[in-house]
Amino acid sequence: MSAGDGSYEPDRMAGGAEGEMQRLEAQAGLTGAKELFLLEALGVGADDHIVEVGAGSGAFSRMLVDRFPAADFTLIEPDTQMRELLRRDLTPRAAISTGSAEAIPLESNCADVVIARFVYQHLRRPVDAAREALRVLRPGGRLIVIDFDGQLWGLSEPYNDANSGIHSRVFESQRERGGDRFIGRKLTRILAEAGCESVELFPFASSSDEVGVEAFMALTKPDNLLPHLETGLISIQEYARVVSDHERLLEDPDALMIALGFLCTGTAPGSAHSLSG
Ligand SMILES: C[S@@+](CC[C@H](N)C(=O)[O-])C[C@H]1O[C@@H](n2cnc3c(N)ncnc32)[C@H](O)[C@@H]1O
Repeated sequence: MSAGDGSYEPDRMAGGAEGEMQRLEAQAGLTGAKELFLLEALGVGADDHIVEVGAGSGAFSRMLVDRFPAADFTLIEPDTQMRELLRRDLTPRAAISTGSAEAIPLESNCADVVIARFVYQHLRRPVDAAREALRVLRPGGRLIVIDFDGQLWGLSEPYNDANSGIHSRVFESQRERGGDRFIGRKLTRILAEAGCESVELFPFASSSDEVGVEAFMALTKPDNLLPHLETGLISIQEYARVVSDHERLLEDPDALMIALGFLCTGTAPGSAHSLSG
């Protein structure tokens, strides 16, 4: 299962596609509420037509439809297995379609909002995706791109020293497959280059003091590195160090973890948008 020519390959991740679905659920649970808070502050909602590209298994889409009950939703997902999950869980609440961020199967000027969450880091040509979103948006409509940055994605205390060198190799491997884990810092320029107006960047964060250390585990557990052990990207000694650092963190009653992400938004050229924010 693969979603296109970018770096997203769920079959190659820890636990295969099933493990990836669980990771996506955990990721939505960890920071999704903070992202929705920002969407509301930006005026998304009411009777908007909201298009989500790369909706995945629907972990965040389900939160979106609950938060914006009067909105119309179109969910675009290139991966067959994930699209089936969207159909199972979100029909008839949302229209679900194949397609991609670079080729959205909708007419021009039909959407009030286009959202891409943790998708642009996997694209070879994110500027093309942003241009395609602008085509679909009505004048004044809003593009919202949510992603992480590999240098500014949070912290853990005690610090998991063993992870830092490994991450730079994992990020390099994603780059070789067409993705970019350092996308967070580039989002403002990507949206501006595509032609967005009024481009703005907002951070969002979740702390283990709010959601518990357990909420981070699906994203940070050492097992996530097993595919890299199999390919030889990391050594067994490095993996053992990660496991022992992780156990140290779990045993520490004062352990603290913070996840940090970025939401970048811009509007489609044309008349002032009529969203309430
Ligand atoms: C990390 S998952 C995020 C899924 C979902 N947005 C979420 O937040 O749970 C990345 C998603 O991007 C999709 N994807 C990959 N390449 C894509 C492309 N070119 N256009 C649209 N979606 C793409 C994948 O199939 C996958 O569903």
